[in-house]
Amino acid sequence: MNHDMSGMDGMDGHMDHDNPLPLKDSNGFNELAVSPLLEKNTAGDVDYTLTAQKGNQLLLEGQTTETYGYNGDFLGPVLKLRQGETVRIKTVNALDEDTTFHWHGLDVPGDVDGGPHNPLKPGEERIIEFNVTQEAATLWFHPHPHGKTSEQVYKGLAGLLYIEDEHSDSLNLPSDYGINDFPVLLQDRAFTKTGELNYEAAYNSDGTLGDRLLVNGTLDPKLSVPQGKVRLRLVNGSNARNYTVALSSGDSFQQIATDGGLLNEPVAMDTLKLTPAERAEIIIDFDGLQDVENLSLVDDQGTILLPFAVNDGQTSSEIPAKLNSFEVTGEERNLPVTKRLELFGMMDMVTINGKKFDMNRIDMTQKVGETEVWELTNKPDPMGGMIHPFHIHGTQFKVISVNGKEPDDNLKGWKDTVALEPGDRVKIAISFKNKGVYMYHCHILEHEDNGMMGQIEVN
Ligand code: C2O
Ligand code: CU
Ligand code: CU
Repeated sequence: MNHDMSGMDGMDGHMDHDNPLPLKDSNGFNELAVSPLLEKNTAGDVDYTLTAQKGNQLLLEGQTTETYGYNGDFLGPVLKLRQGETVRIKTVNALDEDTTFHWHGLDVPGDVDGGPHNPLKPGEERIIEFNVTQEAATLWFHPHPHGKTSEQVYKGLAGLLYIEDEHSDSLNLPSDYGINDFPVLLQDRAFTKTGELNYEAAYNSDGTLGDRLLVNGTLDPKLSVPQGKVRLRLVNGSNARNYTVALSSGDSFQQIATDGGLLNEPVAMDTLKLTPAERAEIIIDFDGLQDVENLSLVDDQGTILLPFAVNDGQTSSEIPAKLNSFEVTGEERNLPVTKRLELFGMMDMVTINGKKFDMNRIDMTQKVGETEVWELTNKPDPMGGMIHPFHIHGTQFKVISVNGKEPDDNLKGWKDTVALEPGDRVKIAISFKNKGVYMYHCHILEHEDNGMMGQIEVN
């Protein structure tokens, strides 16, 4: 199936965002790129430097594509931090347009968060400093300039941010980067005939979709894995596409972490849905599976996302039965709802509580350190409505209930993005450790840029 993304053809697909990627027609596979770890500066007054820059990347056979990247042509390095450390990062804008550096999922003060209030002009740089206070998790960073987030992410600005801590060290989980612990950044893109990423041509106000899948920036990827247990850190970095991942054999795998940290125990899953910005760490045991020769990560329509090739390596990690001590307390459960947010609309008619984003309007306030319960609803649209992945900056929250019921086991962990199907009602317990103005928004990036975003001031 070939989607003409600029024509009416794609319209029905845009509505539900579950239209399958076309099956790949390529003959060859490319070894999955594994982004370099960002090296710590050994001299100077900052620990790390991150530069948003323009690049040229060989993505398609024989064609270069004009791209954006951090410290390179396309995408970014992985920034590995430890709980308890203080980090100084020099952020540099080498683009021809404003950008920001947003740390998605990180507990940081509002002026470090990199929302639309903190633009860097072309040629500008800024040193930011923050303490890493939260537990081990897989987070990510991307730009957030006013009205331009979707286009800049589309062109390639995105990177992963890992946090490690003493507890995660003690668990003996697979953690040899690029050996038995892999980033898996899923993004779909549409290329023009000349091999370019033309955002305007691909644009859809309900979320720009592509007909080619890039994993860590690799088209038609294949991942070589050792025998034994392998950890994949799945990140949905797409503007709008949802993925429901499964193993082609139908075997189950273990989910061990959510957006913001480890689950209490591994959760066996047959399929796992990730909406834009959501993350999940999963463990696949390549010793326990049959037919590993033909094994792939697929989406629920059968499209191959990532084929595996098992190599001669051996990995001997064990997955402990107890991973964390996450809990929604009785007190949190009994708190009254103090904030209600209603997500509504499609295309550029998207709103939160009937309003569109206004940078000069603070929509809500909350006291620093105080836990409140918010109720999120996705008001069905006469036309059916669609899934909105709802994200809040500057903190991680707990899902108390979904439509009045206990959330699924794999939602019982820290989250910063939660998917709401049309008609869904989700209660969350949330507190902020830091002060500042933070965004909350739908993470379909075109919805965000179209104003499905609000601001909370934490004081
Ligand atoms: Cu991924 Cu407003 O962020
Ligand atoms: Cu964010
Ligand atoms: Cu949305």
